[in-house]
Amino acid sequence: MISDLSALQLQIEASLQQHLPTKSQIAQPMLDAMSYAVMGGGKRLRPMLVCASCEAFGGDYETAMPAACAFEFIHAYSLIHDDLPAMDDDALRHGKPSTHIAFGEANAILAGDSLHSLAFQAISEAQGISATNKLTIISLLSKAAGWPGMSGGQCLDIAAEGKVLELPELEMLHAAKTGALIKSALEVGALCAGADIQSEAYSAIGEFGAKIGLAFQVVDDILDVTETSDMLGKPAGSDEDLNKNTFPRLLGLDPSKQKAEDLLQEALALLKQTGLHTSLLATLANGAVHRTF
Ligand code: IPE
Ligand code: IPE
Ligand code: MG
Ligand code: MG
Ligand code: MG
Repeated sequence: MISDLSALQLQIEASLQQHLPTKSQIAQPMLDAMSYAVMGGGKRLRPMLVCASCEAFGGDYETAMPAACAFEFIHAYSLIHDDLPAMDDDALRHGKPSTHIAFGEANAILAGDSLHSLAFQAISEAQGISATNKLTIISLLSKAAGWPGMSGGQCLDIAAEGKVLELPELEMLHAAKTGALIKSALEVGALCAGADIQSEAYSAIGEFGAKIGLAFQVVDDILDVTETSDMLGKPAGSDEDLNKNTFPRLLGLDPSKQKAEDLLQEALALLKQTGLHTSLLATLANGAVHRTF
């Protein structure tokens, strides 16, 4: 059983470390960049969601740990690439030089590529999950990370710089670039516990994830405006500098805060309907939106 979130975070850190390669005769600088990006910090929200969802569906969260790490590997890769000069061109991440500043652009790009593959390796080699469920998990994660999800959303994010998207388009952008991974983290956690993909609880947990995912990016947009770079560990004001489409820019600060809160409350209401043991998921949802961890 997961006792508390800090203990879970520590276990995730240990498991990430175990999955990361440390020595290569051909690619040491790339491996060093992979470890730097993954072990250099972060809230570990997505892996915590995978583990908590697994427990909510009656599974043992340790079964879900390889899949949880897979989500963090995809996330870390997305951040390495997001910071590159061709994308957001941000030199600071987790309070330290971004991976391309520390290791050079080529090693940063390659570290991202290899973290992407490592994610699927971790799932393929996981113990205690049926072969059928592994295939479903791989299918879900590939869509959430790929063209209909994270990288698709990143494409729109870049293409829309300097243009003004309308609210439904902005919601679509955020749902893809950030929401998709968070939603699928919840679904994958459920599948690690052997959940029935046709069940109402499984659909509800996905919908919960979609709402939390959108709220999470709305809050990320807000913090870019309201916090300092020191507080964030990444450059504040980056969105405005790049003419990004964000919630504060489109709706204003207070309506954006209200939007995040409304989404959180809708998400919590969905959780209640599932009849599952979801107190940890509720804590995570609150923490993700109010940024308490
Ligand atoms: C930042 O994600 C990028 C977004 C998708 C909003 P996180 O805020 O989860 O990043 P870390 O890993 O905790 O730094
Ligand atoms: C990035 O969104 C989402 C990803 C898929 C990485 P942002 O560009 O707003 O993330 P930060 O603010 O740099 O962490
Ligand atoms: Mg970006
Ligand atoms: Mg960015
Ligand atoms: Mg941001």
